[in-house]
Amino acid sequence: MKKVLVLYYSQSGQLKRVLDEIVAPLQQCDAVQCDYREIKPLHPYPYPWSFYAFFNVFPEAVYLDGCDVEPIEVEEEYDVIVLGYTSWFLSPSIPVTGFLQSEQARRLFADKPVVTVIACRDMWLIAQEKMKSLLTDLGARLLDNVALTDQGKSLYTFVTTPRWMLTGKKDAFWFFPKAGVAEEEIGASSRFGERLCSALDKDEEQGDGPMLSNMGAVNVNGKLIATERIAHRSFLIWSKLIKKAGIPNSQGRNVVITIYAVFLLTLVLTIVPLNMLIRKIMYPFRKKALDKAVEYYEQPSGR
Ligand SMILES: Cc1cc2nc3c(=O)[nH]c(=O)nc-3n(C[C@H](O)[C@H](O)[C@H](O)COP(=O)(O)O)c2cc1C
Repeated sequence: MKKVLVLYYSQSGQLKRVLDEIVAPLQQCDAVQCDYREIKPLHPYPYPWSFYAFFNVFPEAVYLDGCDVEPIEVEEEYDVIVLGYTSWFLSPSIPVTGFLQSEQARRLFADKPVVTVIACRDMWLIAQEKMKSLLTDLGARLLDNVALTDQGKSLYTFVTTPRWMLTGKKDAFWFFPKAGVAEEEIGASSRFGERLCSALDKDEEQGDGPMLSNMGAVNVNGKLIATERIAHRSFLIWSKLIKKAGIPNSQGRNVVITIYAVFLLTLVLTIVPLNMLIRKIMYPFRKKALDKAVEYYEQPSGR
């Protein structure tokens, strides 16, 4: 009997629905015991978020200052751990970071194969780099990564995802599509659970290769690689400034957050379109380097 532990933190329940699809075939698998558990922060985060609550978590998310989480009732050892997380400011969400920094995670993850499952707007590359370092710190082995992103072009989700986070509204409006991952994509995630079931039957989790290759586990948008890298560099600087301005929710911190929000909006309306145009022109000259970067971020499961 193989033992699988599935862990997640989801606010609206979207990531949980993805994991429900993956878990269902595992729970029907005779040779698998699947324990499905939620990561719960000691002090819950709001959803929907107020503007200031949303930006107040920015520095701590970026600098991987995890929060305290409730201990999870689990067995001592598992054959595989499936870890579902969302991206917050190009970083794993604070509750997931907090859990991975706990003593309990140290015991559970040591030497264990891990499958990460992400459901986010469309920027998860840097978050997954940070996840890799958190898992390395725990001595875990990342075998696979599944990443699902919100429907619609980046330009649209730049509006639909924040609107959803700040109001709880997911519906389509004007020319914008519905927020979140497409329903068909969520439903189709069951294929990963089915494959995991057969892979475990063949002891594939004991090898070093991926179990979920050639299944469309990830689809890296090459156009976003530079955007993420540039954004992250600026996130590091602004996070430091916001932290220096005061503790979470203090007046000092909220003043700098207001300045940052104005800066961000100006950047998005001016520099980002200009940058997109320049990159379009430069694309033929940079194609080789870009293809290589895409290939890197698609690892370990690939397209
Ligand atoms: C504080 C915060 C920051 C976020 N930052 C990002 C981000 O950097 N990249 C991204 O693709 N999505 C980002 N999102 C969207 C989440 O990754 C995710 O899609 C959303 O929170 C819904 O997930 P859930 O309801 O399952 O928790 C952010 C959400 C929140 C609440």
